[in-house]
Amino acid sequence: AVTGLRLRGILDSRGRPTVEADVRAGDAWGRGSCPVAIAPGRLERRRGLRTGELGDLGDGPVVRLLRDGLTGVPLTGQGDLDRRLRELDDRHGLGADVTLAVSLAHARALAAGSGVSLRGWMSGLFPHPPRMPRLLVNAFSGGIHHDGAPDSFQQIMAVPDTGTLTGDVRAALEIYGALERRLSDAGPSGADGRRRSGGGAVAISASSGLLAPGWSCARRLEELRAACEGHRAGLGADVAAEHLLAGPGRYRYEGREHASAAFAALLLDLAVTHGIAYLEDPFDPADTGTWRAFLPAAREAGVTVVGDDLFASDAGRVVPGLADAVLLKPSQAGTVTATLEAAAAARALGLRLVVSHRSGETEDTAMCDLAVAVGAEWIKIGGPRRGDRIAKYNQLIRLAETLTDDPVQEATDPVQEATD
Ligand code: PGA
Ligand code: ZN
Repeated sequence: AVTGLRLRGILDSRGRPTVEADVRAGDAWGRGSCPVAIAPGRLERRRGLRTGELGDLGDGPVVRLLRDGLTGVPLTGQGDLDRRLRELDDRHGLGADVTLAVSLAHARALAAGSGVSLRGWMSGLFPHPPRMPRLLVNAFSGGIHHDGAPDSFQQIMAVPDTGTLTGDVRAALEIYGALERRLSDAGPSGADGRRRSGGGAVAISASSGLLAPGWSCARRLEELRAACEGHRAGLGADVAAEHLLAGPGRYRYEGREHASAAFAALLLDLAVTHGIAYLEDPFDPADTGTWRAFLPAAREAGVTVVGDDLFASDAGRVVPGLADAVLLKPSQAGTVTATLEAAAAARALGLRLVVSHRSGETEDTAMCDLAVAVGAEWIKIGGPRRGDRIAKYNQLIRLAETLTDDPVQEATDPVQEATD
């Protein structure tokens, strides 16, 4: 059973309040927090805690609801807790930020109680061999992740594929560093001719992507490709098309409007010209006809199509024929169990998995353990700069060590669900 629970307001990487939970289960306790998106997708579960408070939330209304609903009640494990959290959320609108923080804190408490790592414990909940994911390294940020009109790709990414995690991290650092120098060399004013504080310092976004406002998406792709030369690395893009919508079936891209079919042709052309191998959210979630028509053409061109806002990490939305891979954001799903259910729905259809950060992150690294536990093909943790992102790179480095050093031991950690 849950024997203690505390909520507090902490800061995300944009310096804005989010929520952290401490949960005690039996003799062990765990901590978890929730990241925050700059602009969440319209299909995902809502945030609840908008108080903006920092520090201990004491026994305020949300804490009282959680304590009444969870403590002293016999729980048979994570699934049981998460179902109750979902019920409380549906009834009282706690919000996915609160439910995820509590859910993660509880998962860590159970893992600690069983003497296993969070990864080992999550592996026990998901029948798939653990595996190190490939990195999606945010090189350039645009769209709503950048100031100004959202009419460019939200992210342009390098996808190292050296065969080892540490090799991939090294490649990420070298590719990113080369782009950073390119922008810095463009002068103290940067690519757009605007002066920045700090002379030649290069500006970066909340997810540590470089800002290059004077460069078109095509130019960014070219620059990235040049920076990838000599490395085993592919190119990826998150179009985040929901935020480019100019009306039903119309997209705003680099100053012009395009109908769905024309936008699909434009994306395919860019993908083929620049060798984009990973393409996320090319269309709005409601534009399913275009997704369906695009998929075979994209596959033909060697492009993996990924649904983020399309599926909103919701098992009920994961259907075949729209995409090759499902992107998982625990903060969209609202609990550990709902995230694992979305992962299982994807695997049941033979779809691949991407585990993803949000634009406003905390130092929490649970997403790395999750990615390894579900055997995700990719993980998206932003560019290799600043603490919130570096915490994830470092956790992956540690996880790679446990996998290669003692894979059997780690893979078969028994799940000891609440021994309470
Ligand atoms: P979001 O985007 O956190 O602003 O939703 C993150 C992403 O898709 O990389
Ligand atoms: Zn996305």
